[in-house]
Amino acid sequence: MKVSALIGAIGLAALPGAVAEQGKFERDSAQLAADVIRRALPNAPNGYTPTNVTCPSSQPSIRSAAKLSPNETSWLEIRRNKTLTPMKEFFNHVSVGGYDVGSYIDKHSSNISNIPNIAIAVSGGGYRAMLNGAGALKAYDSRVTNGTTTGHLGGLLQSSTYVAGLSGGSWLVGSIFINNFTSVADLQTYSAGEVWQLGNSVFEGPDTGGIQLLDSADYFKNLAEAVDDKKDAGFDVSITDVWGRALAFQMYNATEGGIDYTWSSIAQTQDFKDGNYPMPLVVTDSRYPGQVLASLNATIFEFNPWEFGSFDPTVYGFAPLEYLGSHFENGSVPSNGTCVRGYDNAGFVIGSSATLFNEAITELGSNSSTITAWAENILKDLFESIDSADKDIAEYNPNPFYGYNPESSPFANEETLDICDGGEDGENIPLHPLIQPSRAVDVIFAYDASADTDNNWPNGTSLVATYERSLNSSGIANGTAFPAIPDQNTFVNLGLNTRPTFFGCNSSNITGPAPIVVYLPNYPYTSQSNTSTYQMTYEDWQRDNIITNAYEVVTMGNGTRDGNFTACVGCAILSRSFERTGTDLPDICDQCFENYCWNGTTNATDPSTYAPADLMASSDASFTMMPTILSSVVAVSVALFALV
Ligand SMILES: *[C@@H]1O[C@H](CO)[C@@H](O)[C@H](O)[C@H]1NC(C)=O
Ligand SMILES: *[C@@H]1O[C@H](CO)[C@@H](O)[C@H](O)[C@H]1NC(C)=O
Ligand SMILES: *[C@@H]1O[C@H](CO)[C@@H](O)[C@H](O)[C@H]1NC(C)=O
Ligand SMILES: *[C@@H]1O[C@H](CO)[C@@H](O)[C@H](O)[C@H]1NC(C)=O
Ligand SMILES: *[C@@H]1O[C@H](CO)[C@@H](O)[C@H](O)[C@H]1NC(C)=O
Ligand SMILES: *[C@@H]1O[C@H](CO)[C@@H](O)[C@H](O)[C@H]1NC(C)=O
Ligand SMILES: *[C@@H]1O[C@H](CO)[C@@H](O)[C@H](O)[C@H]1NC(C)=O
Ligand SMILES: *[C@@H]1O[C@H](CO)[C@@H](O)[C@H](O)[C@H]1NC(C)=O
Ligand SMILES: *[C@@H]1O[C@H](CO)[C@@H](O)[C@H](O)[C@H]1NC(C)=O
Ligand SMILES: *[C@@H]1O[C@H](CO)[C@@H](O)[C@H](O)[C@H]1NC(C)=O
Ligand SMILES: *[C@@H]1O[C@H](CO)[C@@H](O)[C@H](O)[C@H]1NC(C)=O
Ligand SMILES: *[C@@H]1O[C@H](CO)[C@@H](O)[C@H](O)[C@H]1NC(C)=O
Repeated sequence: MKVSALIGAIGLAALPGAVAEQGKFERDSAQLAADVIRRALPNAPNGYTPTNVTCPSSQPSIRSAAKLSPNETSWLEIRRNKTLTPMKEFFNHVSVGGYDVGSYIDKHSSNISNIPNIAIAVSGGGYRAMLNGAGALKAYDSRVTNGTTTGHLGGLLQSSTYVAGLSGGSWLVGSIFINNFTSVADLQTYSAGEVWQLGNSVFEGPDTGGIQLLDSADYFKNLAEAVDDKKDAGFDVSITDVWGRALAFQMYNATEGGIDYTWSSIAQTQDFKDGNYPMPLVVTDSRYPGQVLASLNATIFEFNPWEFGSFDPTVYGFAPLEYLGSHFENGSVPSNGTCVRGYDNAGFVIGSSATLFNEAITELGSNSSTITAWAENILKDLFESIDSADKDIAEYNPNPFYGYNPESSPFANEETLDICDGGEDGENIPLHPLIQPSRAVDVIFAYDASADTDNNWPNGTSLVATYERSLNSSGIANGTAFPAIPDQNTFVNLGLNTRPTFFGCNSSNITGPAPIVVYLPNYPYTSQSNTSTYQMTYEDWQRDNIITNAYEVVTMGNGTRDGNFTACVGCAILSRSFERTGTDLPDICDQCFENYCWNGTTNATDPSTYAPADLMASSDASFTMMPTILSSVVAVSVALFALV
């Protein structure tokens, strides 16, 4: 796959540094103390700089991926139980043909593995993807006003076990989980100086006020100095370091972009430990030594709150995230080796998932004086020191998998692990962690804001990639299975990218255990939410329009496009669980699956240009609906006309 083709679909943009005068930015200590009380997250030993620390009593080591970590296993016991109440509440306002789901959940809750296990995935695609995903999470959030009324899906987030993000989607995941599981509504209603002020690009930095203490010049200095300090401490740096630091100013609700916030600290926060919210996952790809591009066989890595690693047969191991940056050899830090903490900076993690920014800079550079100034002043030193083929990577040095699984790992002899954008292998929705059999996920709500078509709409490309990868059963798939997915022409010809489509409804037609995938393609209801991956600034109204549009996408206009849709979401959630307990699904699910499950039909002829108009914009908007759902849409049309 060509980089130019990929960038459209994926990651994005930014910057880098050197420069820098000395001069620490003094943090107001009272403010810092307040931060510590508010959130348990700023636990890095020395800001952005990874720092030598005394090793823990047992040396940090790499764990085989054969099972889930003991940390995740014990957390799941707590979390899965905690999903019972929200799930029952969800089915209070989401009726599945009148079936008493609450009683079903009560009846089976003593064996928690019989209860539905729900995951949410948000694709890459820069700020477009972040905002689309935000609309989905908002719609699934019971904390939203009117979110738990008929036609809405509030509470699905509170009922879920996992939330995965990739590239732009990971910025959303970071914004929610580093900020103490804040809500999208709160992220939208900041007061001056807080997060999600996307009217200022990362190239300018935030306005001062509130938590933001730095003016533009100090912002630049702050970025450059952090990266310099890391370099001076003996760690390789890449453009991703600056990019991640800059993103953090937009995403993290703390002074200096939460410079001392680590990803591993999520595992230390009391609310997470108590299982009060789902587990965040961030996906990245890797570049094999000597290769310029990631292929479908690229090893996929994940960051979870405890670990960084891969289920793939190549690496098949996980490193303790808190000690990333330590000198691992052959699977552990030798007894005379050095332990390091503070490498897993929360900005660096979301920057690493979104490294396809170099090309974006090139793309934007010629017509943006700001970016040109950045490129000249801040990126210059880094650009000069980095081979042009390697600009889109994050360098992880020391490589925690050095000497680990040498028979299978292409990285075993590499001192540096080259990490790149999670969508670079074409799998732009972070499904990989969610289809691992050990996680036993039943249903994935997969939001796709990829820019597959010429005008930035999705056409199923990401699902096709995940399906193809799963077919390499003796190789990279390593025991993962995935529902059959048709070609992209079929997606467009059958309109599978114009409304939610379910895949894998019939579990016996899959080669192994796999979830139902509820595919939620970005589609215009009330606004053209197909902005360019390269768009680096969003005024508040545009940000909010995209969020609202995605809310409509995942609820089908709060049920106005299909009054049965929330019931059908209920069927997708319950399907695998009912199969395990030998329970018949309510009759309404037959109709739902007929309407929403892909039934194996294909039409691979070349479609004409795909350019959907707003579904709900005005009374003369064209209704480009699937014939299969037209029947249920008569009532909807009436409702729609009532709206305009
Ligand atoms: C995190 O949010 C929860 C729920 O709003 C709140 O109860 C808790 O105090 C917050 N924790 C911190 C450390 O701010
Ligand atoms: C940290 O440990 C490494 C390896 O032992 C050593 O080279 C480096 O000088 C140490 N850094 C500091 C700041 O002590
Ligand atoms: C993860 O589990 C291991 C083994 O039980 C334990 O030593 C470690 O402290 C846990 N990590 C975290 C961050 O809780
Ligand atoms: C599950 O939660 C209930 C309260 O909601 C509690 O009584 C029960 O002990 C919990 N079970 C486990 C296994 O944690
Ligand atoms: C909530 O629903 C009520 C009743 O339909 C409506 O009046 C109100 O505007 C809604 N609020 C929001 C924030 O959508
Ligand atoms: C940011 O932190 C402040 C202070 O704790 C809090 O009032 C505000 O709600 C937070 N914003 C978000 C979006 O979480
Ligand atoms: C996955 O890969 C590992 C390491 O190569 C191997 O030991 C394991 O058997 C594989 N699992 C499956 C289900 O193929
Ligand atoms: C640790 O000990 C081994 C074996 O004694 C030796 O080869 C290695 O150089 C030592 N490493 C460090 C960092 O001192
Ligand atoms: C789907 O997207 C892929 C990836 O961008 C593109 O190559 C292909 O032409 C598109 N096909 C259709 C039918 O939109
Ligand atoms: C991936 O590996 C399989 C063999 O394991 C090979 O058949 C296939 O061609 C490879 N695909 C790519 C894109 O490299
Ligand atoms: C759906 O609900 C959201 C959130 O309350 C609201 O913003 C939107 O206007 C509603 N859309 C329709 C079609 O009712
Ligand atoms: C069943 O699986 C086969 C491939 O294994 C696929 O061709 C077919 O389309 C699938 N049917 C459905 C309904 O998914």
